[in-house]
Amino acid sequence: MPEILRVNGVSKHFGGLMAVNDVSFTINAGETLGLMGPNGAGKTTLVNLITGKYIADSGDIQFMGHDITKMAPYKRCKLGISRTYQIPRPFPELTALMSVAVSALYGKDRVNQGLEDAATEATHYLEFCGLFSKRNVLGKDLTLYELRGLELARALATTPKVIFVDEVMAGLNPGEAMKAVRLLERAKEEFGVTILWIEHVMAALMKAAQRVVVLHYGKKIAEGPPQDIANDPYVIECYLGSCHA
Ligand SMILES: Nc1ncnc2c1ncn2[C@@H]1O[C@H](COP(=O)(O)OP(=O)(O)OP(=O)(O)O)[C@@H](O)[C@H]1O
Ligand SMILES: [Mg+2]
Repeated sequence: MPEILRVNGVSKHFGGLMAVNDVSFTINAGETLGLMGPNGAGKTTLVNLITGKYIADSGDIQFMGHDITKMAPYKRCKLGISRTYQIPRPFPELTALMSVAVSALYGKDRVNQGLEDAATEATHYLEFCGLFSKRNVLGKDLTLYELRGLELARALATTPKVIFVDEVMAGLNPGEAMKAVRLLERAKEEFGVTILWIEHVMAALMKAAQRVVVLHYGKKIAEGPPQDIANDPYVIECYLGSCHA
């Protein structure tokens, strides 16, 4: 599988805290890469550096031949980088349909596309995410499970090559969590997207991911097939809270 993204020695600090500390890894086209680590390990910050919400203090990020280290987020989006948020961030006063239409308009360089075309596209992604019947519901009135679907629909509507998925299972009941995971699998099949998936539930990554990267106190402490990661004594110790990076 060809490499699609390369993160080289990237760091980011907030005051005296090294949230991400000299992290390197690659993502291959078509794979699902799991990203794990205890709370506060730096997972979301790393995604924020790759998607452009924050700029790295040092290191560089390469995406399909482009150095995107300091690129504006909207340009990264147009290149094919998208994300979902750990805590869903809907437009509270827009309907589900219009929220996804905004993504369809935003993700591409198609100045001539009108809102009507974007809404037609949006309908397709809402249907895919099981939200067709919610298309006229305002963002503020959707349940957490529906918002997770909306996050994915919005990400897909930008026609990404890679989606950074920040915890889809958290806060959902087991049935909903299973459906959310199945939706991610189907998104890969249907749209051919590459996925970096932040997840605490090891059993889910065991099934879905080809490789897993583990962060702890901002540092990468392990990388490998999920089976090896699940049996790595240092990783287990870090999750139980008794190791210090
Ligand atoms: N904007 C910010 N300003 C200051 N500190 C921040 C900021 N964003 C993150 N941090 C800190 O950086 C560290 C890493 O946070 P981050 O959200 O990346 O962790 P995480 O691995 O995603 O954790 P979780 O599993 O709880 O979502 C934490 O100590 C957090 O408090
Ligand atoms: Mg996080």
